[in-house]
Amino acid sequence: MSKYITTPIYYVNGEAHIGHAYTTFIADTMARYERLKGEDTFFLTGTDEHGQKIEESAVKAGKQTQEFADEISAKFKNLWDEFGISYDKFIRTTDEAHMKGVQKAFEVMVAKGDIYKDFYEGHYCVSCETFFPETQLVDGEFCPDCGRTTSVVKEESYFFKLSKYEDRLLEHYEANPEFIMPKSRASEVVNFVKGGLRDLSVTRTSFSWGVKMPKSIGDDKHVMYVWLDALLNYVTALGYGTDEAQMDYWPADVHFVGKDILRFHAIYWPAFLMSLDLPLPKHIGAHGWWTRDGEKMSKSKGNVVSPKEVADAYGVENLRYFMLREVPFGQDGDFSQRAFIDRINSELSNDLGNLLNRIIGMSGKYSDFVIDSKDVEKYHAKELAKMNEVLDSLDVFMENLQTHRYLEELWRLFAIGNGVIQEYEPWVKMKNNQEDEALATVALVANILARAAVMLHPVMPETTKTIADALSFEISQESYQELVIDKKLLKLFNIKKVPPLFPRIEEPLMAEAPKAEPNPPKEEKKEEKSPKNEDNLIEIGQFFETSLKVGTVVEAEEVPKSKKLLKLQVDLGEEKPRQVVAGIKEFYSAGDLVNTQVCVVANLKPAKLMGMMSEGMLLAAKDEDGLCLIRPEKPKKAGTPIG
Ligand code: MSP
Repeated sequence: MSKYITTPIYYVNGEAHIGHAYTTFIADTMARYERLKGEDTFFLTGTDEHGQKIEESAVKAGKQTQEFADEISAKFKNLWDEFGISYDKFIRTTDEAHMKGVQKAFEVMVAKGDIYKDFYEGHYCVSCETFFPETQLVDGEFCPDCGRTTSVVKEESYFFKLSKYEDRLLEHYEANPEFIMPKSRASEVVNFVKGGLRDLSVTRTSFSWGVKMPKSIGDDKHVMYVWLDALLNYVTALGYGTDEAQMDYWPADVHFVGKDILRFHAIYWPAFLMSLDLPLPKHIGAHGWWTRDGEKMSKSKGNVVSPKEVADAYGVENLRYFMLREVPFGQDGDFSQRAFIDRINSELSNDLGNLLNRIIGMSGKYSDFVIDSKDVEKYHAKELAKMNEVLDSLDVFMENLQTHRYLEELWRLFAIGNGVIQEYEPWVKMKNNQEDEALATVALVANILARAAVMLHPVMPETTKTIADALSFEISQESYQELVIDKKLLKLFNIKKVPPLFPRIEEPLMAEAPKAEPNPPKEEKKEEKSPKNEDNLIEIGQFFETSLKVGTVVEAEEVPKSKKLLKLQVDLGEEKPRQVVAGIKEFYSAGDLVNTQVCVVANLKPAKLMGMMSEGMLLAAKDEDGLCLIRPEKPKKAGTPIG
């Protein structure tokens, strides 16, 4: 049987951050785990290089788009090479073969009757490369995912009949409860589909940096929508539409993705595949987001964790271990140097590193670095049984993508090893002429370490090679079979000295992230910690980052040619009123607003709406009966903070 594992392909508009590293580490771990078990495994990663966002980033950088994409794509590839990521293919959406495959897929969809031409008018967020229906926009204008201003786009477009696949998708989720992992994420997808799917605009005419239409369509002004182009990478990487050489690997076993792009993978992608008459991937594994010291990472705050910087300071394998151990798959995780150092010192250095050192030391002293396992079964049947029980329990955690549970369980082996030394005190037995018993204990622990090294190998490939080297064996499919499956002991072997694998870390090795302003008071900071892993909960500090104020509308006028916008001058107790452009015209007339009070988000970056600067946002509530502004219950001085 073969296995196919993928990461998302990364946009080439910025450098890799710790979130990208996390997906790549899990996927790499899974691929290595499958290979260890003897599965013929194909592991794909790469870069997503088309679309308006990349085109705009290249312009900002003063480069040709292709040159810009080449540079950033190479940075991703070099980083993964430096990190020893064991990908089988690094795909780029600007690869000729990929682009041909996308055109082929489009032709198949046309032949299937799933593509038609029409006009699209909608709100487009360039940053997310996504159209949003008006009902989902924040304050009538802003992207519900990233908060940036959307723009109204009306253009001719080819549409994919997504609505046609609604029932089949729902049937698929129902029949395959493990399609979306963790299962807790499935309901958001199912509800979205049940809410009704609109056909998807899959071509653009407003920019040209994309896969061209197939010649057979003969409509040169269109390029493919970036998500159609990007999702197809999972099959074009195997040769779809060109040589089909590796299509035997399809369907994918797991597409690893962040929770923000689950919808694309769990709705659009299966619908595209149904249209192409290809089988669906077995699992979409959606992980949570990483914060730093409890705060969202952002370039403007200067607190983005660079995986390269962390790896240079602490070692890439320690980082892999930390990220995979720290977070239950699917939940958000927090990167803090304190938590990272604690895990290195207590779990890697104490539990594992010290155990290996003790075995090297004792075997040197008692048996000239030679280990003989002949009496292990006689004296340690109980511990062997416990060890085997742990080994048998591990697979299910990895298959369920629960790397934190896998590692937690694996660490029970070190507890058995450390426990047995404490209980049997081989040094006392050596003095009491019970040499056989003492050496059996040392041999037992060496065998425990060997198994642990094999099972830890997918997470820490190089470190475990050193451990195996110290125990004179090699980690391979064969040793996995013998030690882990057949439970054979390493019989007679030498121990080699190796330098300490995990030196203790006393002080943080990297500069701390700049603190967010304003600093919340101390007591509140304590409370911030508790809900850090809960989805959709924010910390109190994040709330205080938003400055909300009472404002008095001093002037209001309609924006010509806009169905939705009013231009307001709002007094916030500052030197002069602020201009706020708000999408409320359908619900309020300009005259009714003057001299009324509103609640304003006062520290939002100014944004341009229809060419006019807007320096704030009004709070409002909207349901099926329409929109109403949120106002203070009693008049308050202009500029009064809301908290
Ligand atoms: N190009 C698309 C994916 C197309 S796949 C057919 C894309 N690229 S991305 O570079 O923006 O993001 C890649 C991955 O990084 C996503 O899975 C996203 O969830 C993940 N992350 C981005 N920021 C993250 C964190 N702060 N934490 C964890 N993962 C994060 O989306």
